[in-house]
Amino acid sequence: MDDIIANALLDSAILAPSGHNSQPWKFRVGEDCITVMPDFSKRLYMVDPLDREIFISIGCAVENICITATKFNLKALVEIKDNNVDIAFERCTDIVASPFVSFIAKRQTNRNIFDNTLIHKSIIDHLSSTGAKLYSRGSKEFDIVKSFVKLGNSAQMKDKDFVNELKEWMRLNETQAARELDGLSYDVIGAPNMPSWISRPIVSLMLNVAMQNRSDMKKLQSSPFIAAFDGQDDMAGWIETGRRLERFLLIATSHNIACAFINQPCEVESLAVELGRQLHLQQKLQILLRIGHASPSKRSRRRPREAFIVDDM
Ligand SMILES: Cc1cc2nc3c(=O)[nH]c(=O)nc-3n(C[C@H](O)[C@H](O)[C@H](O)COP(=O)(O)O)c2cc1C
Repeated sequence: MDDIIANALLDSAILAPSGHNSQPWKFRVGEDCITVMPDFSKRLYMVDPLDREIFISIGCAVENICITATKFNLKALVEIKDNNVDIAFERCTDIVASPFVSFIAKRQTNRNIFDNTLIHKSIIDHLSSTGAKLYSRGSKEFDIVKSFVKLGNSAQMKDKDFVNELKEWMRLNETQAARELDGLSYDVIGAPNMPSWISRPIVSLMLNVAMQNRSDMKKLQSSPFIAAFDGQDDMAGWIETGRRLERFLLIATSHNIACAFINQPCEVESLAVELGRQLHLQQKLQILLRIGHASPSKRSRRRPREAFIVDDM
């Protein structure tokens, strides 16, 4: 595998979504393989105490590598070893480039209010092919999820340590966002570019149950569908969920469908169990998204490729 191919594969991995945009991955590049490793220094102790979201994010990055490999006639063979994912590549002339390669760079989390319009049934069928369950606005399940998002907000916003961790990952203005190249930047969450001494107290005032519920209910009401992902509740299952999630997000992007996470109920153990039961999911609830049509959001930043490469030769 030459450098051009290796770099293209890594660049696609880095564009994957991750909890709080923590970018919790590292890569080791070998002769004909890439090892994707979790970067535990990016742990989110409060929102993700079991590293569940780290491994879902790793799964998204792995899926991007496998999809991009097809562009170079490479077949990707994925094997989980300890905490790591080994991806071996085999040249295979009959491999067709995936139609999703070009959507990896276009995919984004879009936290805007959606425009209310419905989604065509053929698109819903395409999205459902990933195994995600889709619930339309007005259905009993959609309303159940809404009530659990409120319960999730209550649990999280009343937890000082959760709020402090969230604040640590917020990038309040351009200077901070451009310096850190990670986290939740002001423009992506729709805030103005202001000095920290002005925005910090405003953010503190806004991070409360009532304001979070008001904003989330408005956003959910503008979304014609919610998608729920269940999966095996261990490391291999989380990686697999991440791969399915990324496929879903790329299919959505290819149809110009916006996606945003409404994960609060998945992040509070008792709520995830109870909501999964009420939705009659076969496995543990892992991810919740709202989907719809919306104008594009600002793009979130990434650290440079070199920051993620482990070279222990
Ligand atoms: C496992 C996982 C959990 C996430 N949870 C949330 C969430 O609860 N709320 C949210 O707004 N975004 C959530 N996100 C989206 C990330 O914040 C987003 O991927 C990151 O900021 C990078 O932005 P991008 O997706 O536009 O590239 C989550 C992403 C992943 C992979």
